[in-house]
Amino acid sequence: MSDIFWNDVYLAKSADERSWTQEWPFDVEVIERLVPEHDAAIIDVGAGASDLLVALVARGFTDLTALDISAVALDEARRRVGPLAPVTWIVSDVTTFDAERSYALWRDRATFHFLTEPPQQRRYLNVIRRAIQPDGYFLLATFAPDGPSTCSGLPVQRWSTQEMVDFVDDDFHLVHEQPLLHVTPWGSEQSFNSWVFQRRP
Ligand SMILES: C[S@@+](CC[C@H](N)C(=O)[O-])C[C@H]1O[C@@H](n2cnc3c(N)ncnc32)[C@H](O)[C@@H]1O
Repeated sequence: MSDIFWNDVYLAKSADERSWTQEWPFDVEVIERLVPEHDAAIIDVGAGASDLLVALVARGFTDLTALDISAVALDEARRRVGPLAPVTWIVSDVTTFDAERSYALWRDRATFHFLTEPPQQRRYLNVIRRAIQPDGYFLLATFAPDGPSTCSGLPVQRWSTQEMVDFVDDDFHLVHEQPLLHVTPWGSEQSFNSWVFQRRP
């Protein structure tokens, strides 16, 4: 879906009206375990306006990148984390992102699942093949098979672990899997699957 669609979503809804808003970004502990070096290059894709960057900056990470198709979302994130934070901001569709460098960790919470067509999914895989360092990590969360079939009115693809392993298998191996129950700001529950994959050398 287009940047116009997502900009409108961020303009129309406050953080408390967005289903994906988390009180605390669970991934910060996972990221710190995977990449304890605080100068490791970390990219959050479909970063939105979450507090993950705030949490990573507070823990001392110094090489952060946030990518989103929505400039409005990244403006909100920039206001939250502050203008001096060590964050590179990239407004781009992830499927056409041509990374100029590689990353030790690529994080995607609830963005990949909007790619419902196999050609889009293959383009994403090509992007991360180039962008993630050998032995680097791919931290991904999508709706699980018993999760919602839409988000923000858009269809999503729900993934089981076996389906995701089959999809990334040539390039990444599974390190860890974790089902997660996300509670929206208005108290409804959404079933996610979360995985840590590692790039094969
Ligand atoms: C459900 S929100 C999740 C936001 C954030 N990851 C979080 O957990 O709070 C999905 C995000 O993906 C972004 N997005 C959707 N399609 C995208 C694309 N093709 N390329 C880059 N970002 C995209 C949207 O603008 C939105 O910020």
